[in-house]
Amino acid sequence: MASALIDLDRVGMTYQAASGPVEALAGISLTVGTGEFVSLVGPSGCGKSTLLRIVAGLRPATQGTITVAGRKVDRPIADIGMVFQQPILLKWRSILDNVLLPAELAGKNAAALEPRALGLLEMAGLGGFGGRLPRELSGGMQQRASLCRALLLDPPLLLMDEPFGALDAMTRDDMALELLRIWGERDLGREARKTVLFVTHSIAEAVFLSDRVVVMSPRPGRIVADLEIDLPRPRTVEMRASEAFGRLSLDIFRTLTGREGTGTST
Ligand SMILES: Nc1ncnc2c1ncn2[C@@H]1O[C@H](COP(=O)(O)OP(=O)(O)OP(=O)(O)O)[C@@H](O)[C@H]1O
Ligand SMILES: [Mg+2]
Repeated sequence: MASALIDLDRVGMTYQAASGPVEALAGISLTVGTGEFVSLVGPSGCGKSTLLRIVAGLRPATQGTITVAGRKVDRPIADIGMVFQQPILLKWRSILDNVLLPAELAGKNAAALEPRALGLLEMAGLGGFGGRLPRELSGGMQQRASLCRALLLDPPLLLMDEPFGALDAMTRDDMALELLRIWGERDLGREARKTVLFVTHSIAEAVFLSDRVVVMSPRPGRIVADLEIDLPRPRTVEMRASEAFGRLSLDIFRTLTGREGTGTST
């Protein structure tokens, strides 16, 4: 069995908002193995972004423990690539300089990483846009640039919060395939792959990409299902039309909407 890279033990999160406490997450226990691709799906406001921030150590949980790579998380962790729900690009820096930012923050030689940054931009369909400012790009292009930034230092752990949310359907499918390629679906063994925790609102995207899909309840977010996606790899576009793909998607849809009683949410 693969070793656990992320281990969440009864994690809870209650925000202290001006209007009173907001319980965002409750009793989240989840293990993600090294090299595993796990998607989180759940209704808007159920705490998915909160969970990613907690795993990244950007925000402390109010309950439970979080362990990443064997270390308890109590501060922002290094060696991760994070794609936030909003692109969050520095508006005064060119796209290339935004993509190179993690190198500067890590005290690395940014100039030496320029060829890699340009290669990533090319891969994301942004070749020739490196010199532009973020405001000169569409929302989807900015989102792709933020994906390049997350990949720059080749981190072993990727936390991705609806990274393809602002893309048109065709670009979205292309980026999903590209992500699987970068992840090493074809040429790397499980332990050599990146570990990915991926938030999406698209059930089809979650099934297509993942080894497991974790379904969350409405706020406070709890885990109501954890489904193994036993489709063969490498995944192909044709698989989307398969019976197995449809059955898995329907299972997730039913769990999400409660149309057939999940029986596990309390
Ligand atoms: N900084 C904050 N202060 C107070 N409440 C917050 C804060 N951030 C999030 N919340 C609340 O916590 C809950 C979970 O928010 P979160 O952004 O994690 O949800 P989400 O699942 O990512 O939603 P979406 O799918 O819409 O992105 C929401 O009710 C939200 O209002
Ligand atoms: Mg969110």
